[in-house]
Amino acid sequence: MANKPRAIAPAPQKLGVLLPGMGAVASTFVAGVLAVRNGLGEPVGSITQLGRIRLGKRTEKRNPLIKEFVPLTDLSGLVFGGWDIFGGNLYDACTTAEVLDQRLIDKIGDELRTIEPMPGAFDPSYVKRLNGTHMKPGTRRDWAEAVRADIRKFKADHGLEQAVMINCCSTEVYRELTDAHRTIEAFERALDENDSNISPAMVYAYSAIMEGVPYANGTPNRAADVPALLELAAQRGVPVCGKDYKTGQTLVKTVLSPMFKARALGVRGWFSTNILGNRDGEVLDEPENFKSKEVTKLGVLDTILQPDLYPSLYGDLYHKVRINYYPPRGDAKEGWDNIDIFGWLGYPMQIKVDFLCRDSILAAPIVLDLALFLNLAQRAKMKGIQEWLSFYFKSPMTAAEVYPEHDLFIQQKKLKNNLRHMMGEELITHLGTEYYDEGTDE
Ligand SMILES: NC(=O)c1ccc[n+]([C@@H]2O[C@H](COP(=O)([O-])OP(=O)(O)OC[C@H]3O[C@@H](n4cnc5c(N)ncnc54)[C@H](O)[C@@H]3O)[C@@H](O)[C@H]2O)c1
Repeated sequence: MANKPRAIAPAPQKLGVLLPGMGAVASTFVAGVLAVRNGLGEPVGSITQLGRIRLGKRTEKRNPLIKEFVPLTDLSGLVFGGWDIFGGNLYDACTTAEVLDQRLIDKIGDELRTIEPMPGAFDPSYVKRLNGTHMKPGTRRDWAEAVRADIRKFKADHGLEQAVMINCCSTEVYRELTDAHRTIEAFERALDENDSNISPAMVYAYSAIMEGVPYANGTPNRAADVPALLELAAQRGVPVCGKDYKTGQTLVKTVLSPMFKARALGVRGWFSTNILGNRDGEVLDEPENFKSKEVTKLGVLDTILQPDLYPSLYGDLYHKVRINYYPPRGDAKEGWDNIDIFGWLGYPMQIKVDFLCRDSILAAPIVLDLALFLNLAQRAKMKGIQEWLSFYFKSPMTAAEVYPEHDLFIQQKKLKNNLRHMMGEELITHLGTEYYDEGTDE
């Protein structure tokens, strides 16, 4: 049965996309959108641009493009801004990142040169390998006020009514939750006291929420996922989601592990290692920063395989994740997985995966989709954690009482059913009865 569509305000002609951290991922995203606009490439990997959604029964043959089904801003309307702790414009950032071909960068060079990062809010104890040169002075409260002023100025300068913020900063060191993060009052006090438990990532998230700007966290950093900021987002009606883009090895892991569980095959061990040579790899070479990544990468298997429910199959699983900084590879990462599985009567088998991927090429379309979908959520008056966007994250944010859903295809179903629900279309449940004939073509 179809439901009533949600009241959704029309998509704005222009949408601001604010990017804390204008390094490899952010510059590849912006350059990619400019390239597509100029007819120099295709937005491959973007569900909002190339994905379709099946509506109704299979016999109806209704499969519109997602961008034609839900109201989204056209790529020509995106306006980019952001912050970095190094100066230089986005042409320089693209050239330094060495992700895209220099000839392509040069073709859109004039546009890239007009985008200059604003000074970043930064505390070097959170990213020990970087010595920033383009930073905001003062205390955490000063940073938050300055970032909020930057957002307002960016919107005014470009005549924007709406904007979103997608965090693309370096990975910060891992920090435990403290009292400063538990309530809005404590968080506000900690800002005033320049409490070092408040990370730069949290300052950006706080500023976005205070300005009514939806916030997504593409990094493994603790940011909007602390009780104080979740309460603030709910109170101010702002959608938030995160964290850590699911791009390479974890994407593969969340496809393979549901397969083992679906067939009741056991897993004894899963060893994942990576070599990468970009600045992200350099930052992750620091053990305290790697810890943040390790936490988001390790959580995946337990929630998919549920060793508590299947102790004989997954109770003794040994899971190890390594990231090795190896400069010659630049952004072209290599991720290996060795998986020790077992079958009938416990007979062992192995699977090896060698994914020669490109980090920022996989992440850029996620930034685009998050920007457009978060703005859609805001126009549909959805607030707080957007679980339907779990699809894009290694460590999806969820309500406190439930565990995150990591299985890529359950996440995809959630995303698409959410879109159907928003637009008043029937949800697809794959029941497959005579009256409700369903298929697998999500
Ligand atoms: N590329 C992927 O596939 C992928 C996947 C998942 C997560 N991520 C995460 O995305 C983030 C960005 O990755 P990247 O490859 O672009 O890294 P990068 O090092 O190229 O870019 C990060 C940028 O953030 C800047 N920065 C650091 N702290 C800042 C602050 N407080 N304020 C403003 N700018 C700041 C740095 O100067 C740098 O330019 C990392 O946290 C990474 O772990 C990337």
